[in-house]
Amino acid sequence: MPIIELRDVSKLYGFGDATTVALDEVNLSIEEGEFIAVMGPSGSGKSTLMNIIGLLDRPTHGNYLLNGRSVDRLRPRRRAKARRDTIGFVFQSFNLLPRLTVLENVALPLAYKGVSLNKRLKMAERILERVGMQEREYYYPKQLSSGQTQSAAIARALVNNPKIIIADEPTGNLDSAASRLVMELFAEIHRTGTTVLLVTHNPELTRYATRVVYMHDGDIISDEHTDLGEVAKTARKVMYTIPTTSEEDDLAGVSALMHAVPGPREHARPKTKKHKKSSRKNSHARAKKRVKV
Ligand SMILES: Nc1ncnc2c1ncn2[C@@H]1O[C@H](COP(=O)(O)OP(=O)(O)OP(=O)(O)O)[C@@H](O)[C@H]1O
Ligand SMILES: [Mg+2]
Repeated sequence: MPIIELRDVSKLYGFGDATTVALDEVNLSIEEGEFIAVMGPSGSGKSTLMNIIGLLDRPTHGNYLLNGRSVDRLRPRRRAKARRDTIGFVFQSFNLLPRLTVLENVALPLAYKGVSLNKRLKMAERILERVGMQEREYYYPKQLSSGQTQSAAIARALVNNPKIIIADEPTGNLDSAASRLVMELFAEIHRTGTTVLLVTHNPELTRYATRVVYMHDGDIISDEHTDLGEVAKTARKVMYTIPTTSEEDDLAGVSALMHAVPGPREHARPKTKKHKKSSRKNSHARAKKRVKV
């Protein structure tokens, strides 16, 4: 049974003419223990996908099964509980609280669970040791290097012992040495059986992944299983060949909108979606052609 299953999941922002299709009927099935790298150009829907999988956001359409159970209709409290119990987040901007020490930051998620203070600090200590940060327990975030800050944020994500770690560009603000340190931590987390979802713009980091999903315009356009230690072939190729929507596409789309005489069905649909779909088809076809080479 997949730990994560998305069925025809769409996410639309805005209304009418201003509708943006951030995700366009995405299907994705993830087994426990996979390490998935999610790639794609800016605006292709990577963070939207992560936020939906991480229960930070809801799809506009479609179904999401987490651990085989539908989470579409969960009430806010149960959603928050499912999120707390199952998912750990790591973001590009670290998001540590500046007035708390590293130890207090890492222990914080346990407070929401009602764990006693003593126990919280003990658990946080253990996790900080695991990420090699035991000597920085009493530092404040501003006293840490960016690599150490991200290690502390990873410790915080791990403290609830989540089955899934979602990391949205966790190395985006790190130099290459710090990125390596952080990626080794993810590799170690993965070795213990945790499912890891990593958004990255760096094809090199697909070496750590067992599968690489490539997004474009709200769609998954490539999904490749890879061997640990190797850079995914398609990830490297598509990375440098897919153009974002070209000016030509945009002009063709605008011109099509201006000339189209909408039929009765088309009135019901947001125009931008139609425009976006048609321009996506063009670039999609181009992308496919190039990936095949
Ligand atoms: N809260 C929002 N309101 C309106 N539009 C949004 C919102 N969040 C995202 N979008 C739009 O949805 C699309 C997908 O955005 P998303 O942030 O998922 O892209 P991304 O692949 O993570 O990009 P990046 O690599 O820049 O982080 C974009 O067109 C974006 O402008
Ligand atoms: Mg993003």
